[in-house]
Amino acid sequence: MSADTESLSLARRALTHLRDGTTDLADGTMEQPVAAYADPDRYRREVDQIFRHLPLALALSIELPGPNTWRAMTILDVPVLITRDEEGVARAFINVCTHRGATLCQEGSGSSRRLVCPYHAWQFDYGGKLRAMYGASSFGEVDAAKHGLTALPCAERCGLIWVCLSPGEAFDIDAWLGDFAAKLNDLRLDQWHLYEQRELPGPGWKVAWDGYLESYHHASVHPQTVGKFTIGNLTLHDTYGPHQRIVFGRRTLEELKDKPEAQWDAETHIRRIHLGFPNLAISGVLGDHCLVSQVFPGPTPESTITRQNVLSARKPETEEEKQATAAFSDIVERAVRDEDYAIGYGIQRGLKSGALQHFTYGRNEPGVQHFHRMVAAHMARDPDKLVPRPTATTPSR
Ligand code: FES
Ligand SMILES: [Fe+2]
Repeated sequence: MSADTESLSLARRALTHLRDGTTDLADGTMEQPVAAYADPDRYRREVDQIFRHLPLALALSIELPGPNTWRAMTILDVPVLITRDEEGVARAFINVCTHRGATLCQEGSGSSRRLVCPYHAWQFDYGGKLRAMYGASSFGEVDAAKHGLTALPCAERCGLIWVCLSPGEAFDIDAWLGDFAAKLNDLRLDQWHLYEQRELPGPGWKVAWDGYLESYHHASVHPQTVGKFTIGNLTLHDTYGPHQRIVFGRRTLEELKDKPEAQWDAETHIRRIHLGFPNLAISGVLGDHCLVSQVFPGPTPESTITRQNVLSARKPETEEEKQATAAFSDIVERAVRDEDYAIGYGIQRGLKSGALQHFTYGRNEPGVQHFHRMVAAHMARDPDKLVPRPTATTPSR
């Protein structure tokens, strides 16, 4: 389906719901024991089996804009270095120098001919090979082939760089994304301008993440921010294996009621949110702007760090563009930090209170239900059977 045909079909579905006062529904309600949110052992197992095992979208392709660029970050206490080598190939490594373990690149991003360790100036290329040693003649024999950086499995698709945090594992990114890749490709994430990045502390990963998966709360939680633009409790829901797309109707959808379809500018009346399992949300709220959120579990079940990437269709140049982009950035920061996560911290306190044995997910929260089913599926079965792996033998850890 072309992007235009799909917009039309989504706007049609949303308008039908608006007319009928309905929304996409799950088959039934679903109960979830609160232990799924609060049990620290379960949390550790989930971090190991999900976050340390699955391909995670750790960077946008546009964060590494050309050959010989790098981006360093810490994810779940793993120091990660993502590079783009001379040929433009994205790679990932553990950000640890092979001499005596110094952090090779400081958190952030950069570009230089070589990666030079700040401790004793060993030099690595962007493919992770040891290329030069300061004072090599006095150091003694070193086998450069055995002193390359430790690689992490990495693949670049759909404008995102996917990395597995466990060295020696492998993944088949095309099989993992399946037909979700076509939906992500439609977003052309590699064509946007990265306007701003920030990290927001938040409540536990499931509490935080649940808020990305439904519009049931929009009218009550976000009346002054994103709820101004979206119709509360109207969601289209489609799944792609573990991944999902939810679509909200914009308040302007109303205007289509009496317009022939040939005159619809369908895309402007809906908002698509793409949700990559387990922690990636790509959403647009206002016109030429897009928010890419990555929610990472913190050291305890009660905390997360969310990286918000604010994108604009192009670098804002005019005063009007600058204001619009700043307004979008501000609104998504406030909506998440002061509204979603403020509610989330309350939920977190409630979990500790022992008031509830379970949560109930409504039929109108199919995205929340699907997500928790996918978590359960990953935890219940051998994850190797769920994450497509290349058929060739992969090196053991
Ligand atoms: S630790 Fe990097 S050069 Fe010594
Ligand atoms: Fe929200």
